Order: sequence, then structure tokens, then C-alpha cells
Amino acid sequence: MTQDEQKRAVAREAIKHVVNDAWIGVGSGSTANLFIDELAKIKGRIKGAVASSVKTADRLKTHGIYVEDLNNVDDVPVYIDGADEVTEHGAMIKGGGGALTREKIVAAVARKFVCIVDQSKLVDVLGNFPLPVEVIPLARSYVARELVKLGGHPAWRMGFTTDNGNVVLDVSGLSIVDPVALESTINQIAGVITVGLFARRGADIILLGTDAGVRVIDPRKR
Ligand code: 5RP
Repeated sequence: MTQDEQKRAVAREAIKHVVNDAWIGVGSGSTANLFIDELAKIKGRIKGAVASSVKTADRLKTHGIYVEDLNNVDDVPVYIDGADEVTEHGAMIKGGGGALTREKIVAAVARKFVCIVDQSKLVDVLGNFPLPVEVIPLARSYVARELVKLGGHPAWRMGFTTDNGNVVLDVSGLSIVDPVALESTINQIAGVITVGLFARRGADIILLGTDAGVRVIDPRKR
């Protein structure tokens, strides 16, 4: 299977996790977009969706799927989203598309995080993909200096502003052996809004696209 076919296969498989008559959390990126295409086929079964980005909200609406403000929703049984890297333990790097903050918020609300990825995203150790960090514009240089102290090489994602009006630093050169600890450390730097490490609240199920079909990984059994 090509990478796109793997993404399509996991998007289809993810539909099995959608709960009837409930809200569904929907992530951002090309794999999440394919999930939205599948969700449109069963939109009559759900109350509607909460979106992790403006782009996702627009795509959901284009497909005729009702989008609700997260503030008006108290229960999100399932959140479906892609990742830039994921380990078999469910820790992820996210934010390649810059939607990390809203993704982390919807993931926090959700009871189950279903991560949908093609085979290329599965890694033993996170950090080959540059780690996105959303930062208040005023704090960009300070946060960059602090990230250098942690051994990273931050690069300003030039010309990009998040849905929340902030900037993103993409940090390369980190070998993330303890993702939970690094997530906490970076979260504590003044000016950081969100780090794209999803380890404290990782994936509950990983649907991995492979040449042989979709492999279901349960991180709790690793
Ligand atoms: C966006 C994300 C995406 O989930 C991540 O970038 C994966 O995207 P794709 O499915 O296009 O590979 O975190 O902020």
C-alpha cells in the first residue's frame, strides 16, 4: 500500500470507534482530513463534531457535519487525530500542521484518543521529527534560548501564525528518551503555550497503516 492508501485505510478503520449519538473530536492534517471524508458518510449517527483547528472546522462544515464550540460540550467519548511520530507506548509528536494547542485541548477533554497514522510515523524514540512548540510572539527569542539549553536547535517557523495568534518554534536535535519529563520541562518555560509532545496524555489506541493492512496497537499492553 502507498502512504496515502495506508492513511485512507486507517481513516476508514477509525469509523469503528465513533460513538453513536455523541460528539466526536476531530484532529487536523491530511490523515484527519481523510477521516472527515469517512465521517461524512455516517454523519446522521453523531450529534456533531468538535474541531481542533479552523481548517478542520471548515472541512467538517463543507461536508455538512455540525461543528460545536468545545465550551458547549461536556463529554467527548472519542478523539481521532494523526501524529507526526508515535511510539508503541502511545507517546506522540504532533503539531506539524501547527494545530497542537487546540489538538491538546480536545485530546484532554476526550475519554479516548485514537491515533491514526501510516507506517512511516511509528518510531522507537521520538525526536527525529522536529518538535513543534507554540510560543507567545514576545517570548520567541527567550524560549529559543531556553530550548538550546535543553540541547535542541529551535527554528522559527517563518511566516506562520497559529489559529491562536502565536508563533511556532520547530526544535530539532532532541532525542526524547523521557517524553513525559520533557513535556513538563518545556511546558514550564515562560511564554510557551503548548509543546507538541503528547506523552502525559498519549494515544489510547493506535491504528497503524501497513502494507498488510491496518495494525491495531494497544499501548497499555506494551
Ligand atoms: C497537525 C498534526 C497532525 O496530526 C500531524 O501533523 C500529522 O499530519 P498528517 O496526517 O498530515 O501526516 O499534529 O498539527
